[in-house]
Amino acid sequence: MSGRVTGCGRRVGIGRSPAYNARWGERVERDADHQDHAGASLLRRVWRSAFPGRGIPRTDRDRALATRNTALLHLRPVRLPARTLRWTHTFGLGGSSLVLFTFLVASGALMMLLYQPTAGGAHLSVTAIEKEVVFGPLVRGVHYWSANLLVLVLLAHVARVFLTGGYHGPRQFNWVIGVSLLLLVLAASFTGYLLPWDQLSYWAVTISTGMLQYVPAVGPTLARVLKGGTELGTETLVVFYTLHTTVLPTTLVVLMAFHFWRVRKVDGVVVPPPRPEEVGGQPEKVLFLPHLLGREAAQAAVVLALVLWLAALFGAPLGPPANPGMSPNPAKAPWYFSGFQELLVHVHPVLAVVVIPLAGLFAALLLPYLTVDDEPAGAWFLSRRGRRLAAVAALTAATLTPALVALDELLGSGSAGAPGWLRGGLLPLVVLVAAVAAGYRLARTRFGATTNEAVQAVVVLLAVALAALTLIGVYFRGEGMALTWPWRA
Ligand code: HEM
Repeated sequence: MSGRVTGCGRRVGIGRSPAYNARWGERVERDADHQDHAGASLLRRVWRSAFPGRGIPRTDRDRALATRNTALLHLRPVRLPARTLRWTHTFGLGGSSLVLFTFLVASGALMMLLYQPTAGGAHLSVTAIEKEVVFGPLVRGVHYWSANLLVLVLLAHVARVFLTGGYHGPRQFNWVIGVSLLLLVLAASFTGYLLPWDQLSYWAVTISTGMLQYVPAVGPTLARVLKGGTELGTETLVVFYTLHTTVLPTTLVVLMAFHFWRVRKVDGVVVPPPRPEEVGGQPEKVLFLPHLLGREAAQAAVVLALVLWLAALFGAPLGPPANPGMSPNPAKAPWYFSGFQELLVHVHPVLAVVVIPLAGLFAALLLPYLTVDDEPAGAWFLSRRGRRLAAVAALTAATLTPALVALDELLGSGSAGAPGWLRGGLLPLVVLVAAVAAGYRLARTRFGATTNEAVQAVVVLLAVALAALTLIGVYFRGEGMALTWPWRA
């Protein structure tokens, strides 16, 4: 029999494919690397048993091997197009989301040592963390700011992926995984909101779970399951605590690993078009280690500094203990649900709580499948025309939304006339659908937009309208949810 027998007793060489030989050659070298150091110090041997390799990788081959042989790095591509490393292509938003998530897990685990999920003990234990534990306020602050920043950074990540067309072709399903991640992060934020059991959290969750009554058929049952009964109390805290500390983080970790693996399988993020000075042909590829890992580590350090600074300077809010007998006025939902709470002021609850959010969710899930894959992607806003259309859409939404809110306030939503379901339900729905269809048609026929450019303009219009509603809900609503200036709210 021909070929060479390796130290592992396997035959390589003639009769075997080059890929097989390369794999075995690599493995034999790795084993040899290991044995070379049998005489090294105990500490070094323990280290090398956990992290096989040649210490700090100094050649490109060792760097590629280190990425492939390290469990965490293995989720990332070994090589990726150099162009995708431009900071302005991704702003490192996906990596920053991961960093914020790890801060949340670390600070949350520390707080679990003291927190008590009971109606009598929750507020007391959080007060103890704030007043009696060394670095307690800092840990709570890190958790609070990481959670809020994570929602903001994630929304920016979604915007980046969408506006660079990173959801087409082989990335379609990763977009679907991403939408699930966003929902899970919102659910984790919301379940954490109740845990301090202060007036703000108690009433915000009362209002939010109260909205479920408008969901046809399953709404009341869902509310009862979530609350662990009919009223908010210890049972609710146990349900929220279990979801917040076990079910949601575990599911998030599994889905995140899947998300990164899908990015790896397509050799990184969508590739931006070359700059004029860059030569054509296949884009140049560079190693993940050190090029991307170095940048990600630097950005992680900046994110850590920002979170520590916010936590040390502003801490996390804690109001008086929950009082089920006295609701604060106004009682507002968490800021990321404020846009829908603002919608509730103007339209029928079924529309605000069920129809619009569900339609938005389905549209988001189907987006990669409703758009066209073979149009160019990778550039911000797709093209110059795409950028102009998106700007017009954003401006229209940013001016029309506050104008419509003010008009509704002036006319008085409660005025006599048509029944509520028509005035606040059917009519706004018809107007919304007609406006979106007209906008799409106009972009296609009048401005010659491609399918993806027209869809982009419509999504920008709706997203900016929701952002405007959120800002109005957070800053411009005062007592009795009346419109007011931020300094009076
Ligand atoms: C905890 C949540 C998330 C984490 C940690 C995360 C992380 C990442 C990372 C590290 C990347 C590659 C680099 C980058 O774009 O910065 C990425 C790409 C991507 N993400 Fe996320 N992501 C999350 C949520 C989402 C959400 C909510 C969506 C969409 C709704 C999404 C859709 C995508 C897609 C489609 C890609 C590939 C984009 C491309 O090729 O240009 N991700 N994500």
